[in-house]
Amino acid sequence: MAWRLFEEKDHAAMYQKYRLSSYDQVHNLIFNYLEKKKGKPFTLAVDIGCGSGQSTRGLASYFDKVVGIDVSEAQIEEAKKVDGPDNVSYRLGLAEELEFEDGSVDLVTAGIAAHWFDMEKFMKEAERVLKPKGCVALYCHKPPCLLGYDNCPEDPAQIVKEIFVQILEPYETKGHKMVWTEYKEIFDAITFPDKERAEDIYIKFKKPVSWLMGFVKSLGMYQIYLKNDPENAKASLDQIEQRFINALGGSSETIVEFSLKYFCLLASKPE
Ligand SMILES: C[S@@+](CC[C@H](N)C(=O)[O-])C[C@H]1O[C@@H](n2cnc3c(N)ncnc32)[C@H](O)[C@@H]1O
Repeated sequence: MAWRLFEEKDHAAMYQKYRLSSYDQVHNLIFNYLEKKKGKPFTLAVDIGCGSGQSTRGLASYFDKVVGIDVSEAQIEEAKKVDGPDNVSYRLGLAEELEFEDGSVDLVTAGIAAHWFDMEKFMKEAERVLKPKGCVALYCHKPPCLLGYDNCPEDPAQIVKEIFVQILEPYETKGHKMVWTEYKEIFDAITFPDKERAEDIYIKFKKPVSWLMGFVKSLGMYQIYLKNDPENAKASLDQIEQRFINALGGSSETIVEFSLKYFCLLASKPE
């Protein structure tokens, strides 16, 4: 495994608070694909890199049983704190060593996580645990974009772009670069010949300015910046928040509309 981020308790709690849990559109798409490729029964889904369970709980209505797996104990603890459906459970584990029987799983998913996996080892494990025609779905999103704020003294959308392009760029890892290319490298690493890519899945949502700042703090890139240079990391985020508030003419509680672009890689194991 190349990178171990998201593992400290504070980071896991921040993750729970500031990451989105609106995966319905993506889950519907994945489920339709599974239905088309494999069909019933839908006994077991495994969500790897489940974090605090945002990507796991939404699978509960489709499957008899859903198991969330994460390498981080702190994330698993956060996931277990949330009241969720009875058929969902969480356990510590690795994408590269899946503790499931051969041919026992209908669906393996990873939300915003596959870019941290050793893809060669993960694909071998996915192939082993999946039933014939069982599916893999690996999805992620690009940084949030701001919707429709014209006539501001400074362009707020540009300020959001600046966070990613100027402030966080020096702290990008190989994993983050895979996200910017929308998982091109990961698509190539999927060993099942029957594979496809779903793009242009847009989710719109409204959140206060303070949410955007929390979201940025929850990013691995910001956490690396914070470890390397805590004073400047805090100062640059405070400055960005102030510029953002000035541009909108509001406060940190001003509600802003964002859009997130998701992409999803789908593949089905040969019969
Ligand atoms: C960005 S979080 C995504 C959490 C959640 N799936 C979501 O959609 O918000 C990535 C998670 O992947 C986990 N992770 C990274 N590498 C892993 C690996 N090789 N095996 C299992 N989990 C891993 C991290 O601990 C982290 O909780």
